[in-house]
Amino acid sequence: MGRSEDFSIDLVKTEDGTFTARSSSFDECYHSTKDGALNESLKKHVEPAFALLPKDKESVTILDICFGLGYNTLATLFYLKREKIFKSVKIVSPEFDEELVKSLPNFPYPDELHDFKEVIEAVSLYGRYESELIEVEVVFGDAREFLSRCELTFDIVYQDAFSPKKNPLLWTKEYFESLKKHLSKDAIVTTYSSATPVRMGMYECGLFLYNPPSKGVRSGTIASPSPFLPLEKIDMELKKLRNPAAAPLLDKDHQNR
Ligand SMILES: C[S@@+](CC[C@H](N)C(=O)[O-])C[C@H]1O[C@@H](n2cnc3c(N)ncnc32)[C@H](O)[C@@H]1O
Repeated sequence: MGRSEDFSIDLVKTEDGTFTARSSSFDECYHSTKDGALNESLKKHVEPAFALLPKDKESVTILDICFGLGYNTLATLFYLKREKIFKSVKIVSPEFDEELVKSLPNFPYPDELHDFKEVIEAVSLYGRYESELIEVEVVFGDAREFLSRCELTFDIVYQDAFSPKKNPLLWTKEYFESLKKHLSKDAIVTTYSSATPVRMGMYECGLFLYNPPSKGVRSGTIASPSPFLPLEKIDMELKKLRNPAAAPLLDKDHQNR
């Protein structure tokens, strides 16, 4: 889709052969180089989320935290096309790096995502794309501010910020409390993080935690307001007994980022 020599941030080839990039301000890659950029989006986020979603849902509203290179959003569209799922899908994705999103038409996406070139072009120009069944909106600005004024309810959340160490304010207990207010009763939250402070934050705000069916990617966590997902539940009370010092990340300890 794009030519790598036109893309101004550092490109990194990942182990599935697809490209990610390295953020100099966060000093971290946008994807796991081991899991692979496209593979991570599909296996860690899109496929488990749609597999767990109630089949009778006619329309699906997705929160993609945050847009970054757009892989999770594009991989969702790829998945819907591949699986011949003709639901109405709205994807909303906060992102504070507007320059990055403007540059994405030049990003060297893998062949699988070429069909969605017009989506990335529209998003980079107008911040949105709309067709008969698909709506994609990138909301430029801070994800937490977006959540505080958002009136939508989400069926799926791809929790895919930079790592808790580098991007802690998108992993605190207060952040998850705000997120929880926007979840439908059987919403699926997917994340690559299995860190205890992240799980504690999700658990203490009332979400149930599960081990994902991680085939072909490292583990992570699935969270939901529903106690009935057909997955192995993570026993957080047992984890607390074994590790009494386990605690969530808190806003007050991470005011700089
Ligand atoms: C790991 S990358 C997301 C990768 C993306 N999901 C993808 O599939 O390409 C994290 C993104 O979060 C953005 N970000 C970090 N903190 C943010 C915040 N508070 N509000 C909005 N965007 C933020 C960064 O600019 C970066 O693009």
